[in-house]
Amino acid sequence: AVRHRLKQHLFLIGFMGSGKSTVASTLSAALGLPALDSDACLEQELGCSIADFFSREGEQAFRDRETEFLRNLRGQSPCLISCGGGMALRSENRALMRLLGPVIYLTATPETVFSRIGTDTARPLLKDKKTPADIAAMMQARLPLYEDAASLKIATDHLSPAEITNELIRLL
Ligand code: S3P
Repeated sequence: AVRHRLKQHLFLIGFMGSGKSTVASTLSAALGLPALDSDACLEQELGCSIADFFSREGEQAFRDRETEFLRNLRGQSPCLISCGGGMALRSENRALMRLLGPVIYLTATPETVFSRIGTDTARPLLKDKKTPADIAAMMQARLPLYEDAASLKIATDHLSPAEITNELIRLL
């Protein structure tokens, strides 16, 4: 495997269903960089599922925990972090990520997202998003925020995880 000597964290951001978790596992192996999934870390910390936390405490409480998660990465040894799809919503989070390392933005069209996770029930913010058009509207509102956070961007629609990984290693 390629051993990329990264001295900083590396972030994967993008909309739900853009392939962050899938790419994280191949890229982490290729780079020899341990993978952290913000959703999984937060679920462990919260002691419940993200859906449960959203319904009990609300979205803002979850966003606070995400910001806290990023702050706690300071001073930790480098990891590849796949971020929940809302991590780029707060400007503080975007600034923190940019400070801590390169930010890779994975894109996917609303149709791709719909085909990957359209029937998923674990994502509270997709509960009432029933069509590609619903997803497109939500995605559209977030695009500038992902763009603002990103240092590089790759479209995942027509590439396999291995191809995305190879391309990222070339670009990094
Ligand atoms: C969210 C995306 C989810 C999870 C939460 C909120 C969002 O992560 O953090 O449901 O606001 O886009 P994934 O992108 O891993 O699905």
